[in-house]
Amino acid sequence: MARISRQQAMNGRAPGRAWLALAAGAALAGCGGGDGLVAGDAPAEASASTIDQGRQIFRHDTFGDETFWSDTLRMHEVIAKAVDPKTALSVGLKVDAEALPAEVVKGIQDGSISLTDPATTIALLKLGAVVGLEGTVESIDGKDTLTRVGVTCALCHSTVDDSFAAGIGKRLDGWPNRDLDPGRIISLSPALKPAQKAVYASWGKGKYDPRYNFDGRNGPQVIPPAYGLAGIHRITVTGDGPLVVREKSHPASPMTLDQALYEMELVGHDFYLFVDKDSERPAVVYRRKGYDYGVISLDVVS
Ligand code: HEC
Repeated sequence: MARISRQQAMNGRAPGRAWLALAAGAALAGCGGGDGLVAGDAPAEASASTIDQGRQIFRHDTFGDETFWSDTLRMHEVIAKAVDPKTALSVGLKVDAEALPAEVVKGIQDGSISLTDPATTIALLKLGAVVGLEGTVESIDGKDTLTRVGVTCALCHSTVDDSFAAGIGKRLDGWPNRDLDPGRIISLSPALKPAQKAVYASWGKGKYDPRYNFDGRNGPQVIPPAYGLAGIHRITVTGDGPLVVREKSHPASPMTLDQALYEMELVGHDFYLFVDKDSERPAVVYRRKGYDYGVISLDVVS
């Protein structure tokens, strides 16, 4: 049997724009739950207004997660007290240069706008210029006050092209923000116990555990890109999710066991579904822990 390295078998993922259709479906504190909206048609076939709507949702809709980020974690207090733009950029937050009016651009360039004053962060939030953060800014006693904050998909699944300055530029929707340290940001919450803070602070840049908020089990994941998911079907499971199911159909021309094992190695999976040439029965080969491979076949009863 031919030997194939995983390297050879790697199947890359081409960037696309299909994430737009997905944005409408997910919710909560970073992929932790949500209702099941199915990503069907690729945006290429969708109307311009649908794409626009999807982009808007992806960039700006919090799906009401202020209940977590503000009501529970009180992050609006943390931001108002301690997060000036310099600090925000240092923990990987990004600024959308296209949302900045000319006078703000000028103020940043000539230094008349302070980047070490949390009030500037609030001004940026008011402009909708902090990628992935949506703030409610109200005038209280004549002063702009951040009363609530929520996060959108863009917080983790977008970055900017740094065209204005490091961390400030045009949005790159769907790109993973691997500079972002969501755990460090959350660890600043006054609502957490020291042990919880330690867990959040331990994750590091570019990682997040969407489930830790629910099950308390620590397992940070690298933030993946949200593009390149064309044709992927989402289903919702109770208690956790969304579960991403990559739907594929294979031309099932019958093959031998050896061919099936070869195909399994080629795609780099731990199992491979095929139709056995000799028996003409559906079967699956799989990698075993104790032995090399196993094979299970089905007797079709009508
Ligand atoms: C706080 C960071 C964060 C936010 C906000 C966030 N995500 Fe995620 N997302 C992640 C992480 C981390 C994973 C990987 C989780 C895993 O592998 O279990 C992920 C996984 C995904 C995946 C699966 C990608 C793949 O290749 O398997 C999709 C799709 C996705 N997110 C879409 C969204 C959408 C849509 C939103 C907005 C509703 C969103 N995410 C908000 C961090 C985030």
